[in-house]
Amino acid sequence: MTETLVTVGLGERSYLIRISPGLLSRIGADLRERKICNRFAIISDERVAVLYGERLLQSLADVSISAELITFPAGEAAKNMQTIADLSSELARRGFDRRDGLIALGGGVTGDITGFLASIYMRGIPFVQVPTSLLAQVDSSVGGKTGVDIPEGKNLVGTFYQPKAVYIDIDVLQTLPVEELQGGLAEVIKYGVIYDADFFSWLKDNRDPVLDLHLETIISLIARCCEIKAEVVEQDEREGGIRRILNFGHTIGHAVEAASDFSIIHGKAVAIGMCAAAELAVKTGCLSREDADAIRSLIEQYNLPVTIPEYDLDVLKKYLLADKKTVAGQVFYVLPEAIGRVKVTDQVRVEDVDAVLRNC
Ligand code: GLY
Repeated sequence: MTETLVTVGLGERSYLIRISPGLLSRIGADLRERKICNRFAIISDERVAVLYGERLLQSLADVSISAELITFPAGEAAKNMQTIADLSSELARRGFDRRDGLIALGGGVTGDITGFLASIYMRGIPFVQVPTSLLAQVDSSVGGKTGVDIPEGKNLVGTFYQPKAVYIDIDVLQTLPVEELQGGLAEVIKYGVIYDADFFSWLKDNRDPVLDLHLETIISLIARCCEIKAEVVEQDEREGGIRRILNFGHTIGHAVEAASDFSIIHGKAVAIGMCAAAELAVKTGCLSREDADAIRSLIEQYNLPVTIPEYDLDVLKKYLLADKKTVAGQVFYVLPEAIGRVKVTDQVRVEDVDAVLRNC
């Protein structure tokens, strides 16, 4: 099967996203052809390493690229400075130097950790992304955001550091837990709302083949998300402007995620956050009731949650203020104006936010 290619055009930092089934076993050949590095550390969590570590190691061994697998415990709890310190020491002990590179094999946590590590180890070494969750394939592996959490908040320490390539093997979705697949679909719906009304309609019409992971459908879906992400990042790599639209659903979503003590996974919290943002947009007069209902209905169609569980209002508001997108106490919201178009604003009345947090 031919590969689907998407380019992220960032001048000398440009790279290709390759999308195809069976790609894991062809990554070595591509790395060899592109002469990225002759030695790699594959960074993966313990769950994904068991599933795919050996296949990736073999793919590199087949073309005589030296590679070693280094693992860390699975889960968001590992996305911290200690893991970065431990992995740095491990790389140093194994003699990795600035000619060598890293491969992030895993979901969003692995990509964020590995990208951050690559950006600071020996003052920066090359890395490539091999995302194995839908969320990482359509969002976090593309665009160069890296980082870790600190006790004061999620992703508060990090860098912008682009990978040299992204390899998306569709086959790995077969082993993805259903809940994580659903979480990724929330980010997929996000692209329709913020950027592409046709894609929004396509998602409505193709719900069953998407949920069945029909091959051509999933390739089209991932490719369209990556194209949109690339277009946005190409205009605003460091999130000074338009890139902020990618945070649609994340402002209230992050607060819900934190208030749930992370028992609600990121994607599901984003689904709730998108419904809440749509309601807020209706209240502020920038979105029609009909479009807000269409957003909610598509989210429901994909079996995602649409209501905020009953949390203390003050707790939710505390987390809203702690969001790193908050500037000088002003919370910024990404509000839809129509399907396919959003605006970023801090001009939102507190009573409207409170009403949404209470009743959405
Ligand atoms: N996930 C949002 C961004 O990459 O900007």
